[in-house]
Amino acid sequence: MRTQVAIIGAGPSGLLLGQLLLKAGIDNVVIEQRSADYVLTRIRAGVLERTTVEQLAKAGVDARLREEGLVHEGTEIAFGGELHRIDFKALTGHAVTVYGQTEVTRDLMQARAAVGGTTFYEASDVTPLGFDGATPSVRFKHRGEEVVLRCDFIAGCDGYHGICRASVPETALTTFEKVYPFGWLGLLAEVPPVRDELVYARHERGFALCSQRSRTRSRYYVQVGMDERVENWSDQAFWDELRRRLPAHVARDVVEGPSLEKSIAPLRSFVTEPMRFGTLFLAGDAAHIVPPTGAKGLNLAASDVAYLAEGLEAHYRERRDAELDAYSARALARIWKAERFSWWFTSLMHRFPEDGGFNARMQEAELAYLVGSPAAQVALAENYVGLPL
Ligand code: FAD
Ligand code: PHB
Repeated sequence: MRTQVAIIGAGPSGLLLGQLLLKAGIDNVVIEQRSADYVLTRIRAGVLERTTVEQLAKAGVDARLREEGLVHEGTEIAFGGELHRIDFKALTGHAVTVYGQTEVTRDLMQARAAVGGTTFYEASDVTPLGFDGATPSVRFKHRGEEVVLRCDFIAGCDGYHGICRASVPETALTTFEKVYPFGWLGLLAEVPPVRDELVYARHERGFALCSQRSRTRSRYYVQVGMDERVENWSDQAFWDELRRRLPAHVARDVVEGPSLEKSIAPLRSFVTEPMRFGTLFLAGDAAHIVPPTGAKGLNLAASDVAYLAEGLEAHYRERRDAELDAYSARALARIWKAERFSWWFTSLMHRFPEDGGFNARMQEAELAYLVGSPAAQVALAENYVGLPL
């Protein structure tokens, strides 16, 4: 079998890349180790920057997003028992769109199926080969048969635990990592969101986030210890803890309901440099992780893929490799800005058990500065709605 670009991973980065390339007439095959249903039931991101929406439009998969996505022109920050609004629209002229990652993935899967793009789900022993030379290929097993897919390029879109980054010789990559001493326990429920916009709450007991998927579906998170187990959290224990961390007038309005999903995610900052090794290109979580506080992970996956698709288009259309050669540096420049913002917002809003009182006072002082300073609010809003590509 042969294709131009072999894409490993059918998360948002792999599927969006596949769609942008198909639009540009570049043949590609997607190889995913899980089933399509499994990929669709992983509850993750919910906030799309405007440049992500623009990429989805370019890929021709924005119809349902325009219809069902909720445009948020601001967000609320809670601390000291009060709510403070950050008005994105007034501060930056832009907004974000609340639309679940599962829906983005579903739209991309349907678009790919509609144009007959080839995808192998439930592939095992996926192995990228020959990418340090001129004959890259991907070998994998599918329905008991061994497949060898020859290609010009391999796109490693296989997430943090994927095989692509792990296949590059260790000496060729430098990694930077910070693991935070806590995680997020998330709960999804078919109940109306407590507020029209998201609420990011700092509290002595720990961080909490009120997010949403639609006007009838809510996604809530509470900061928990690193070694907490989801089995130890009944739905009622979750709702009680969430309410404790919100201002009283907000807590009163929380509508409880049975969980549709409940899971714990660790918090980590991680970057790999460079993002290219020969004819293998890493994109999305395969190359970097941000803690979810800044809502940047999915958006970075989309911007990586935008740059990579541009590079591949220039290669095939105009036989020009300047864009592909610049891919890693261009993507990393944007990634480090998002890493900084995500680290800053995480540090500001979470309880750091080991830090003693000083850190907590600094957080309070910084939040007081933020709500009193239009310049500080512009800095937050600009980063949250997303920097230009
Ligand atoms: P993934 O979604 O991880 O997809 C990788 C795919 O590759 C998977 O389908 C996997 O099964 C497959 N794969 C892995 N190994 C192999 C292999 N060996 N062979 C073949 N296939 C393989 N981001 C935001 O922008 N906004 C948010 O609000 C936000 N909230 C989040 C909340 C939580 C709780 C979490 C956990 C994450 C959140 N994120 C958010 C981050 C976001 O979900 C990720 O950054 C995004 O999923 C990255 O997409 P990806 O396609 O690069 O990787
Ligand atoms: C979500 O809705 O899952 C979500 C929203 C904002 C974040 C993180 C997660 O910062």
